[in-house]
Amino acid sequence: MNIHVITVLPELLDSPFNHSILKRAQQKGLVNVHLHNLRDYSNDKHKSVDDYAFGGGAGMVMMMEPIVNCLEALQSEKKFDEVIYMTPDGENFSQSLANRFSLLGDIAILCGHYKGVDERIRQHYVTKEISIGDYVLSGGELAAAVVSDAIIRLIPGVLNDETSALTDSFQDNLLAPPVFTRPADFKGMKVPDVLLSGNAAYIEKWRFEQAVERTKIRRPGLLDQ
Ligand code: ADE
Repeated sequence: MNIHVITVLPELLDSPFNHSILKRAQQKGLVNVHLHNLRDYSNDKHKSVDDYAFGGGAGMVMMMEPIVNCLEALQSEKKFDEVIYMTPDGENFSQSLANRFSLLGDIAILCGHYKGVDERIRQHYVTKEISIGDYVLSGGELAAAVVSDAIIRLIPGVLNDETSALTDSFQDNLLAPPVFTRPADFKGMKVPDVLLSGNAAYIEKWRFEQAVERTKIRRPGLLDQ
């Protein structure tokens, strides 16, 4: 899979993509992450990427030209399956979207800044608008890192224990059950007996019941989906 991130702040993404699971996924060749600095696609001598909003008002708007130059340069080599725009007024990101995106070959993620991009980019070039929650970040970069992380860990071969992504919260619309590790008794705080029983069927049943109970209490809406 190839993920192309288009941003005015590529440095902000260096760290998230260069540690732990995301780093290993790239080293194994399971995903290639390409960071593109939007300023490199500006024809302006000051390398500007934003301008005042028509009609006035506070805040700058990201101009069409650098974004279109960048998308066209990249698309001339390979067509994207999705051009995703990170924006607080987009569709709420979810595990099911992460699952769907993880099956794609090539995606571009455009990070918004200032007041956002010229609306014509959204109308004519973007295929999916994604929000990571009902709050406003300073830019789309951290949101792009969140979305990329959720996608990349689902690519087969990325996680060491192949089955572990399947038992994550939100797969099957259930939150994950509680987990415990050694010691079995820490200062009188004990691990549930069932987990020490060695009875796999009993443990699986307990985990399922705990997952349902936890979901009922914390996220009842998930059970209706
Ligand atoms: N850019 C700014 N805030 C955002 C959010 N909540 N989700 C996605 N992109 C954003």
